[in-house]
Amino acid sequence: MHSLEALRENFLAYMQSQAFCKEPRNLYEPNNYFLQIGGKRLRPVLLLMATDLFHGNVQAALPAALAIEYFHNFSLIHDDVMDGAPLRRNFQTIHEKYNLNTAILSGDVLLVKAYEYLSKVDDQYFRKVFEVYSKTAVEVCEGQQYDIDFETQVEVTHAAYLEMIRLKTAVLLAASMKIGAILGGAGEKDADLLYEYAENLGVAFQIQDDILDAFGDESLVGKQPGGDIIQNKKTLLLIEALLRSEAEDDRRLTEIIQASVTDKAAKVAAVLDIFETYNIRTFALQMRDSYVEKAMSALQQLSCAEEGKEALRQLVNHLVVREF
Ligand code: IPE
Ligand code: IPE
Ligand code: MG
Ligand code: MG
Ligand code: MG
Repeated sequence: MHSLEALRENFLAYMQSQAFCKEPRNLYEPNNYFLQIGGKRLRPVLLLMATDLFHGNVQAALPAALAIEYFHNFSLIHDDVMDGAPLRRNFQTIHEKYNLNTAILSGDVLLVKAYEYLSKVDDQYFRKVFEVYSKTAVEVCEGQQYDIDFETQVEVTHAAYLEMIRLKTAVLLAASMKIGAILGGAGEKDADLLYEYAENLGVAFQIQDDILDAFGDESLVGKQPGGDIIQNKKTLLLIEALLRSEAEDDRRLTEIIQASVTDKAAKVAAVLDIFETYNIRTFALQMRDSYVEKAMSALQQLSCAEEGKEALRQLVNHLVVREF
């Protein structure tokens, strides 16, 4: 089995070799910029790891891995517009550095390019892979819509939140592993178990993302600190704080969410203060870890070698217990 680092290096070299060098420059250059400012490359690595787990051809899986990374970056470029985010990976977002039209169109072309790379998948697997990919891409849009809808909805249940993050985040991680497994020649049962494993880890991953948005080290996370609070995102943290807060705190929190904000820093500080009072971080960490547990139980039934399962267990450290 290849190490995660080796898979990542392999992917990065391939992605670099495919950098856009076409006209019009104003369409492609922003994508080159966005793709080279960083990113953990988790999804392509997951895809290649799954192929490797079933002794498939990792080199042949590279275009599908790039398709997934392109789709992911397309979704981030548009997500940053939707979230009014100025920073990503410690650099300016595309709509900030260029303009809104660039973010729309450069994002669009990246989505189309993703399909182009997906079409390089070997004929014997293409239909299955295409189905998983398209279903997932639609689900991500559905999740993003719920995320936006919830900004102006005061009451959002845990169940609604969990379904929203399953759609916007977890299914793409899950599809990456399932596509990798298909390309590795895994049977349907194993491909589905890997999907289930990565879907649960994906939910934990997004809960951690919410935690980092509020409590992370700004220079490591590379995003605007408290961005979710500023946007009234119904993160697990805010939903739980609305449930737990009492009397004066409850009144203040509801007021903060409904007021039009002039002082963003003061808003973030006030909400973090309430999170602190009601032990919200601890609650979120427990919820996060309960999804890690679910992921681990899906692993048990997987038919790959023990070495592979151990590598999957170790993945938790990259995906969930992370600082950026
Ligand atoms: C960010 O994903 C979007 C979420 C689903 C939370 P990543 O944290 O994988 O982003 P990069 O690609 O490493 O920057
Ligand atoms: C993003 O969720 C999910 C997708 C891009 C589909 P977030 O909005 O929380 O991601 P970040 O925090 O901006 O990376
Ligand atoms: Mg965002
Ligand atoms: Mg978002
Ligand atoms: Mg986030």
